[in-house]
Amino acid sequence: MKRSFVTITDLSAEELSTVLSLAALPIADLAAPLAGKGVALIFEKPSNRTRQSMEMAVFQLGGHPVYTRGEEVGFDRRESVEDIARIMSGYHAVLAARVFDHEVVERLAVAASVPVVNMLSDYAHPLQTLADMLTMQQLMGPLAGRTVAWIGDYNNVARSLAEAAVMFGMHVRIGAPVGFDADVAELERIALLGEGTLFQTHRAEEAVDGVDAVHTDTWVSMGQEAEKAERVKIFESFQVDGSLMELASPQAMFFHCLPAYRGLEVSADVIDGPSSHVLDQGHNRLHAARGLLAWLVSQ
Ligand code: CP
Ligand code: NVA
Repeated sequence: MKRSFVTITDLSAEELSTVLSLAALPIADLAAPLAGKGVALIFEKPSNRTRQSMEMAVFQLGGHPVYTRGEEVGFDRRESVEDIARIMSGYHAVLAARVFDHEVVERLAVAASVPVVNMLSDYAHPLQTLADMLTMQQLMGPLAGRTVAWIGDYNNVARSLAEAAVMFGMHVRIGAPVGFDADVAELERIALLGEGTLFQTHRAEEAVDGVDAVHTDTWVSMGQEAEKAERVKIFESFQVDGSLMELASPQAMFFHCLPAYRGLEVSADVIDGPSSHVLDQGHNRLHAARGLLAWLVSQ
């Protein structure tokens, strides 16, 4: 049966664990499931990690990645999202897209006859979360019962991380400014996803209290550049710096999906210091992408 990965909740907790196990396997054990096949990688926004890791994951699985800029396909401008999905399904084993509007990747998944992967939308970044969970699991062991703080904007990266963390039985503590937080319906939706729990505060200090992991992201996501000056003021007290990390557990680990802006959401001493695991996290994007693609084409 065709399966897609548009949000974390498209897979069960057990299926996500299987993907993480596949991600940890040596490449040779995966037996080139994409041999002779293509994967379309469509980007409406810039990317370093996602493009590089997806292209290399397709290559490692024996397939051929076709990088395509958003304007070349022109979702609903050059032709409809549905026509693009149906045509490209005839060339490729998987379609992957990074889009502004989440609805576009949802429509691709409905119309395509092959699996669709969300490579980041305004709503979710599930591929990033696979690497985040893989990295935390490698560093901490079993994740159930562990605590993780999200500091800053409750954005696409935060939502996917919170979903997976609750599904894996983790305790999530969100520290976000008023107006950039998760609303009550969203908190209730995520709390029902698994055995984990969710707590939200508008004070970064309260969110990081005793946690095992601290995650953050840029205060200005792609497409929000015009709001930068206003956001920098609003998020001022949400910088992850050394004094904030001291409130977390003594072994607390720092994570950031990157790209990072030192001196804004994170201080240089934290992201470049001993508690930071951002390079492992970024490098795990490749392994997570390979595990996911291997799983999707085996369904
Ligand atoms: N973390 C992440 O998705 O990075 P890119 O935007 O560089 O792909
Ligand atoms: N929240 C960021 C993540 C970048 C990888 C954005 O959407 O731009």
